Amino acid sequence: MCYAIPGKVEIIEQKIVTVDYYGEKRKAINELDKLKVGDYVFAQGGYVIQIVPEAEAKSILEMWKELFWQLQETDVRLSSPGSETSSDRKLSKMLDKAMESRELDKEELLYLLHLQDEEGLSLLCKSGNFLRQKHLGNSCCVHGIIEFSNYCAQNCLYCGIAAGNSKVHRYRMSDEEIVGTAIQAIEAYGFKALVLQSGEDPEYPAPRIASIIREIKKSAAALIMVSPGEVGVEGLKELYEAGARGLLMRFETSNPALYEKIRPGNKLETRLSQLRAAYEMGYLVLTGSLIGIPGQMEEDILSDIMLAKSLHAEMFSFGPFIPHPDTPLGKHPLDSSRKILKTLAVSRIVDPENAKILVTTAFETLDKEAREKGLSAGANSVMLNITPYQYKKEYAIYPNRAHVEESIPDQIEKTLSLLKSLGRAPTDLGVNRDF
Ligand code: 5AD
Repeated sequence: MCYAIPGKVEIIEQKIVTVDYYGEKRKAINELDKLKVGDYVFAQGGYVIQIVPEAEAKSILEMWKELFWQLQETDVRLSSPGSETSSDRKLSKMLDKAMESRELDKEELLYLLHLQDEEGLSLLCKSGNFLRQKHLGNSCCVHGIIEFSNYCAQNCLYCGIAAGNSKVHRYRMSDEEIVGTAIQAIEAYGFKALVLQSGEDPEYPAPRIASIIREIKKSAAALIMVSPGEVGVEGLKELYEAGARGLLMRFETSNPALYEKIRPGNKLETRLSQLRAAYEMGYLVLTGSLIGIPGQMEEDILSDIMLAKSLHAEMFSFGPFIPHPDTPLGKHPLDSSRKILKTLAVSRIVDPENAKILVTTAFETLDKEAREKGLSAGANSVMLNITPYQYKKEYAIYPNRAHVEESIPDQIEKTLSLLKSLGRAPTDLGVNRDF
């Protein structure tokens, strides 16, 4: 099974093309010289990444055709808000307002983030799911992530692979291993979008990562996103020129004082300036924060959501903080999964039309049903870990990460079967930007 559906190019206007998917039109950016009207393409994250031979495209489209409509029907049914109402009149009014796509003010959004009762939480999640379906349909991104080094020069108080943790078994994948893993993911497993992530490791300066990206792009087509921590504006330029089109870098918290506490020696503004520069360069920005860090208030979480929106995030990545015993914050109690669910649903309410909202692996580590719960609360994106086993078990940013023991085919099968049961199509279409 392919995790993307090919579309047919109908219009080419300079770099922008209109692509048809079973009658639905989406826009994408094209950087391929040879593209013609009538070609079939794969588009990921709003970028045309590959021309698909007509016969292959038609056979994939044939395979998906019936399923495509069945999935949509299932999704519409499952995301309908139903007739349930709340005894909390204030909440009902707010959710009605959200579902009519009227903006909620700060006080209302905070009220939602403070909800405690199950009934209220369930209605909030349903509203998030309804808005996701209404504006973005049933597509769900399925990205692959390769964690190529767990060396890190930083000493973040929350992170298990921080430089100061001497208990970690450190590893670095060779360039050949990284390229080989990426190509196998694309060619053997069908991934169309990959994230290359590492700790902040000085052994991989931007030119080295750039050359890895070039090698991957030479022999396989995919949307490549990078996540090597802060590489500076020049570094970002270099990676963009090599073909990276997405930057995954969380700002961790929008509260500058909290940021300086949990990332000693660093300034929030430095990180934000790089995220802004990345957007200006044309990167898709994937960002977000840690939910549940000591000292964080609901006001901070709301600011995090607002900040992600103001950074033009293509994808919101909000995950729970999971204390790691070998870190200074290791004794902090584990939070409930409700907080993260509220964050996902409120994110959807804040950015109903554009955001891809990720169900993070950290959330899945916290709650076995996180994927289903998150995808039913407004989220529409998942990431599968495709790092070779001997390495991924050492990338312990927090303990007991979900899926570490699962093979790639197992992860794919489980993901696709869950998506199918929820009526979601594993695709990644459309663009968010104004042209
Ligand atoms: N719990 C959850 N997420 C964590 N990260 C780092 N440490 C932890 C932890 N203990 C997240 C950070 C970072 C991403 C790669 O991993 O948000 O940006």
